[in-house]
Amino acid sequence: MKDNNVYKMGPWTHNIIHTFSGDGRYSDFIKPFNDIGLYVEIDNKGKSMVIEMPREDRKPISFKNLLKCKEFKNTKYKLPVIMGVNVFGNPIVKDLDKMPHLFVGGSCGTGKTMLLKNIYESLSAKLSNDECKFVIIDTKAFDFVKYSKKKNMLMPVITDIEEIMTFFDKIAEIIDCRINILRNKHSKESKNMPKIIIMIDEIIDLLFKYKKETEKFVQLIGLHGRSVGVYLIMATQRGNHITSTIYANTPTKICFKVRSKTDSRVNLGEEGAELLLSPGDMLYSEAGRIPERIHVALPEKHI
Ligand SMILES: Nc1ncnc2c1ncn2[C@@H]1O[C@H](COP(=O)(O)OP(=O)(O)O)[C@@H](O)[C@H]1O
Ligand SMILES: [Mg+2]
Repeated sequence: MKDNNVYKMGPWTHNIIHTFSGDGRYSDFIKPFNDIGLYVEIDNKGKSMVIEMPREDRKPISFKNLLKCKEFKNTKYKLPVIMGVNVFGNPIVKDLDKMPHLFVGGSCGTGKTMLLKNIYESLSAKLSNDECKFVIIDTKAFDFVKYSKKKNMLMPVITDIEEIMTFFDKIAEIIDCRINILRNKHSKESKNMPKIIIMIDEIIDLLFKYKKETEKFVQLIGLHGRSVGVYLIMATQRGNHITSTIYANTPTKICFKVRSKTDSRVNLGEEGAELLLSPGDMLYSEAGRIPERIHVALPEKHI
């Protein structure tokens, strides 16, 4: 019998690329693999699938190497972010400007904070301190506290939830002010305004304490953020507590490994993330597109 499959080894998985022939719904082909715990990716046109089997000997993906890749070096993206590599080991760079707001879910210890750090490093490597400023809310007061000293921070890292209202007001004021500037210039573009990247790790702490205010803030950013250069990235390990307002205003979703299909649906909008490896393995879904599996890179000091 002729074997029409193509075998390609990736950094974390053995991959079998199978081209569909004949009729039949591809979901019928996928389910048996999912049932034995294997993730299967479908190409955009639904012509082929990749069956991905975990390797025993996973090598960490080096962030430093990816900084040198042509996809990042030659990128035309406004806000290029190194996400990691696909299952074949090819670099994946995404544009935060297209997301333009990002929700990151996944169980504890699966790689969410590391990804936020990579996003910070990618943007800092490409954009000067005048072009791009960061605001980081680290409610655990652990992972990002040292970032306060960095030159491209708009303000010191916020660790105290009681400071959050002042922060919301300040960002709302900036957005207002920028909207007025654009209106007076009759312009739709926010050229010459430094981009502001807001990273919240973990959003649920704010939501529990200040639900209404947090929702109002996320809505404001969802409505006007991109046009005035303000972007929001938020992470949570408790996707089941995220309100629909928060979810709807962050069009791009990422989900790291979760415990169940239900958890995957809650975070990503579909099943699959329960089949990922941990830590560092994620599904990326830009504005409702088919999720892409991406292995996230690690900085040198962690390898
Ligand atoms: N992309 C990755 N590749 C390999 N190991 C990783 C990766 N991301 C995270 N880790 C490991 O997992 C640990 C927990 O990651 P972290 O990002 O803090 O998880 P979370 O924020 O989801 O709780 C890290 O300290 C690191 O050792
Ligand atoms: Mg974390």
